[in-house]
Amino acid sequence: MPQQQRPVGVIGVGYVGLVTAVCLAHLGHEVVCLDVDEAKIDDLRRGRIPIYEPGLAELMADAGERLAFTTSYDELCDRCRVLFVAVDTPPSPSGDADLSRVERVVREIGGRGGDRLLVMKSTVPVGTGDRVMAELEAMGVEGIGYCSNPEFLREGAAVDDVLRPDRIVIGEYDQHDGDTVSELWSGIETEVVRTSVATAEMIKYASNAFLATKISFINEIANVCEHVGADVRTVAVGMGLDHRIGPSFLQAGIGYGGSCFPKDVQALKQLAGNSGYHFQLLNAVIEVNHLQKRRVVAKLQERVGRLRGKRVALLGLTFKPNTDDLREAASIVLAARLRAEGAKVTAFDPMVPPGSRPDLFPGVKLVTSALDAVDGADAVILVTEWPEFGQLDWRAVRDRMRGHHVIDGRNYLDGAAVAAAGFSYDGIGTTGDTLGGETPLVAGERS
Ligand code: UGA
Repeated sequence: MPQQQRPVGVIGVGYVGLVTAVCLAHLGHEVVCLDVDEAKIDDLRRGRIPIYEPGLAELMADAGERLAFTTSYDELCDRCRVLFVAVDTPPSPSGDADLSRVERVVREIGGRGGDRLLVMKSTVPVGTGDRVMAELEAMGVEGIGYCSNPEFLREGAAVDDVLRPDRIVIGEYDQHDGDTVSELWSGIETEVVRTSVATAEMIKYASNAFLATKISFINEIANVCEHVGADVRTVAVGMGLDHRIGPSFLQAGIGYGGSCFPKDVQALKQLAGNSGYHFQLLNAVIEVNHLQKRRVVAKLQERVGRLRGKRVALLGLTFKPNTDDLREAASIVLAARLRAEGAKVTAFDPMVPPGSRPDLFPGVKLVTSALDAVDGADAVILVTEWPEFGQLDWRAVRDRMRGHHVIDGRNYLDGAAVAAAGFSYDGIGTTGDTLGGETPLVAGERS
């Protein structure tokens, strides 16, 4: 079979792998996906998608026969030359990224020999490419090339981020291998950055760490705004209009969560430390993010006094809207803190049904609507800015509640409307009204 007509392999059908595979198929490639999880592969063969991601199901259905699924490395290696690696790299107890799954892939592929190209999509520490090449050499394997092709997709906007990215980064040891990866993505119009493997690996970490830094920065500005009577939402608009700063990732709130920022910022700090550099700025970014969740509890205490016996409703639990992902979600720490203070916590999230995840939310009552969550509550905390919370009838909410306090952890609600319904409203670095009673002229881009 001519090389360009052979299917592309994708190893690992988690978030990144599945979206990458479906998008490659959408671009016209035949794709074979491998995962060691048989149940997941069975589901995918039946068209069942294990994650919630807008637009993914439609693209997967369109791709039809161009997408195949297997648990067999023999089948994968038989059919494919180019193999994207998208296995997860969770944090290890030391804070370094755990590369055991990547190592397993290298052993499986290396053990089968042949002319192949590994394309790393997983977020891996700088130096991983060199390590993989050294490992293959130690195994006596020749003919396997390696490129780094980091992903920059956001959950909830993943398909769009892959098909309409700001850039494609390709790190290569060999120009021909880089060309192969570049051709696979040639259906996409964007800047392509061709560089060394180590530089590509660093671009990924540096990008996530910078975005996390922006969030912690605006969160600290928000905290100062509360002391000086300024409004962080308008500050963010005023800052963001400077094209050197830009409006994105300047939404103050209760901090960043998810499977990427917390892990990657920690891993970059660790990586720097391992090579003898103390990355001071990232320490502050991480600490600010931790404290930001706790400040919400302090804010609530200012309003309602001791929390023992108080009923608190959480609106939203996922780490951001349009996903069912609860990894490192601010809600987990927040719910645990509230429970530790003796509050009774009820929560509603459109993607987290009652009875699910007692491991993450012990003692928290999950219900099926926002109005059920606020029933008899003394206070409400908006944790995730799901669009339906923007449509809530706050007078109806007020009628169901015992108390009248709203803390808007995402500065998402119309503070004036909430206050008009008889609530005390607290945002993060904002009173809900902007200076002069105006709303910001340009909304900051959230993500
Ligand atoms: C993030 C990056 O945005 C992607 O570019 C990257 O590819 C991905 O990590 C990854 O490394 O895989 P994601 O974690 O899906 O994507 O979510 P974001 O939209 O970046 O949000 C992360 C967190 O920051 C959320 O908790 C969100 O609520 C918070 N955030 C975001 C803010 O608090 N303020 C903002 O202005 C923006």
